[in-house]
This record gives sequence, C-alpha cells and structure tokens, in this order.
Amino acid sequence: MEITWIDTVGSTNAYLREQPERVGPMTMVCAREQTEGRGQRGNSWESEPGKNLTFSFYISNPGVKASAQFSISEAVALGIAGALSEFDVQTKVKWPNDIYAGERKICGILIENSILGEAISKSVVGIGINVNQTEFRSDAPNPVSMAMILGKMLDLGEVAETVGRNLEKSLARGMDDTHGIYKESLWRGDGRPYPFREAATGKEIKAAIRDVEPGGHLILDCGRYAFKEIIFL
Ligand code: BTN
Repeated sequence: MEITWIDTVGSTNAYLREQPERVGPMTMVCAREQTEGRGQRGNSWESEPGKNLTFSFYISNPGVKASAQFSISEAVALGIAGALSEFDVQTKVKWPNDIYAGERKICGILIENSILGEAISKSVVGIGINVNQTEFRSDAPNPVSMAMILGKMLDLGEVAETVGRNLEKSLARGMDDTHGIYKESLWRGDGRPYPFREAATGKEIKAAIRDVEPGGHLILDCGRYAFKEIIFL
C-alpha cells in the first residue's frame, strides 16, 4: 500500500468520502491530527496529535456483494492483528471488529460502504491504532496503546508500513479462509460463558459464543444477534 501523511484534517474517513480522487485506491491517508475523529455509533475517536495512527484508505469496487460486506471487516481486523503481532503485541478481535489486547481496546475500525445495486461500489476503511499515547481522557472503555504494553515508544512510520503490508495481504486472502481465521481470532471465543446485555430487552445474560455467520451475525448459545443487538459487558 502507498502511504501519504497529512498534518491536520477533520476526519480521514470524511476526507476520502468527500473527495476520494485526491489519492488512489489502497492508499493510506494518515493524519498526524484529526480534529473530528469519528468512531462507531456516533462516538468521537480520541487521539493525541502525533502519537497514534489514524488513517483511512478506500477500496474501489471491492468485488463484494452488499450481503457479504462483513468479509471486508473481517479481513481488515485480521490485517491489523497480524501487523500488531509483528511488534509482539498479541490481540484478539472483539466482534464485530474492535481489536483488543487482553481486556483493553487498542484499535477501532470504522468502515463506510457505498452500495450500488447488490454490490459494494466503494469501501472507505478508517482505522485508529493507539500507538504512543499513554493517557486517555475520553470515557472510551479501557483504552490501551502499543507503548503501554511494550514499555517503549514506536516509530509511527514503521508501524504504518507494517500495517499497510499486513492489510494488503489480508485483503487478498479468499473470503472462506478469512472467515475461518476470523472465528479463531475472536475475543472471548473460547466457548466459555461471558456476560452480555441484550439491547432490545435490556436483560443481562451469560452466554458463550458459538459462531459468527459469514454475514456477521453473532451466534450465542442463547440466540442470534446482529451488530448493536447485543453488548459485551
Ligand atoms: C471505533 O469507534 O471503534 C472506530 C474508530 C475509528 C477511528 C478511525 S481514526 C481514522 C478514521 N477517521 C475517523 O474519523 N475515524 C476513523
């Protein structure tokens, strides 16, 4: 992947959605500072300027049906996990696509797909990896960074290059292989029961992860849930 750096931008995802032709597909646009970094569910994304990797890239016509869009999410999550393991930071994928080191979130992913008919015409993939930040101010649950785990600062350019290489490799893998590896990489995917809350009922339950469907639904031993229907506690 090509890598390009910009100093300050609202959000790298918005930057690529508004004017993708500023860079080519599969070019990582890394921002030293985001003034309006966005997370999932309308949250903001905290990142101290110059400390972390906050970047987006787009895939033009990824050749994926809209119904299979979760496979992009899986491949991206595995690419990040692979890159971090090259730095001896071992991670798991918290369904659907947060990257966790132990009990703490080290990376968030925000994918925004454009759909044309039945196919995805463009996918903007935004990734925030906590690299050198050691204090977090927002109310994000349990953030952690590579530096906090390793006890040393890392070179952002080197992390970016490693991430790009791993993403490229992961996105080139076949969908079936990707799905199998994704399931093996699941956080709390060891078959034991863990606490969840059902969004619809507000009920707290203890359940074990049995499966994730290729379309992205989470199968617990007590039911089948779409994204946002079930919350890890
Ligand atoms: C999450 O909430 O877990 C997703 C966080 C995604 C953050 C990244 S940082 C680069 C890109 N630009 C944004 O505004 N958000 C994503």
